[in-house]
Amino acid sequence: MNIVSDPRVMQREAEKLRLAGKRLAVVPTMGALHEGHCTLLREARKHADCVIVTVFVNPAQFGEGEDFARYPRDLPADTARAAEAGADLLFSPDAAAMYGDGYQTFVTVEQVAKPLEGALRPIHFRGVATVVAKLFHLTKPHVAVFGQKDAQQVVVISRMVKDLDFDCELIIVPTVRESDGLARSSRNVYLTPAQRKEAPVLYASLKGAADAVANGERSAAPLTAAIRAAITSRTSGTIDYVSVADGDTLRELAALEHGQHILVSLAVKFGTTRLIDNIPLTVA
Ligand code: PAF
Repeated sequence: MNIVSDPRVMQREAEKLRLAGKRLAVVPTMGALHEGHCTLLREARKHADCVIVTVFVNPAQFGEGEDFARYPRDLPADTARAAEAGADLLFSPDAAAMYGDGYQTFVTVEQVAKPLEGALRPIHFRGVATVVAKLFHLTKPHVAVFGQKDAQQVVVISRMVKDLDFDCELIIVPTVRESDGLARSSRNVYLTPAQRKEAPVLYASLKGAADAVANGERSAAPLTAAIRAAITSRTSGTIDYVSVADGDTLRELAALEHGQHILVSLAVKFGTTRLIDNIPLTVA
């Protein structure tokens, strides 16, 4: 596996591969690679001759008081995992190379970045959209692979790709879960053993909502109430939000309609560790 840290070298390498007729896939990550990322890399392999994984803990998407400093970093382990999962090139720039002196250009996606995560993390999606746009320019991918786990990120990036005419196909991979349902996340390592035991309630409560919709529930309020009740009665977590929203606009819904794509999502804090999860549904 080729390892590149200089953005200009990355860009030249991508250009060379394109000129040689190779189809390129990128899997953007912040490292701390786990089975969820490996699934994205294996999916990327199905769509490309050359799979590029980016490892960059992007300071622009962390607000004050968030976990930028303590975000897990282990480049040697990431390198081994990425190679094992079949990546051809690992791009791992440093922050000074990505955001040099005098840096002042950001990508702001408007409406879909405002609710949910955006309401609590005001600069987060500006940072995500900016770094993903930069990574696309540097790696020149034909396809980019993201996980459904970060559902609002998927909506924001899809909007940016459409609005800014990026010539890149997005592939979204379903959330990879532990055997007890907990969504795989680099942040799960922060959970204490007691919190780890409680955390599967998040997905169980989302599944309860999906079952209720499958059984004919067409109002959002009972769905969010049941999720909230499960989390508050069965865990020590503090709920940031529970949402039933339109899957494309992310506007909160009161009533669900036949054929509508909806996103049931939540964010819950266990001590200082914040977990998010979601289920996308189509109303029958
Ligand atoms: O999902 C992530 O790990 C990050 O938000 C991303 C897309 C790599 C941008 O930093």
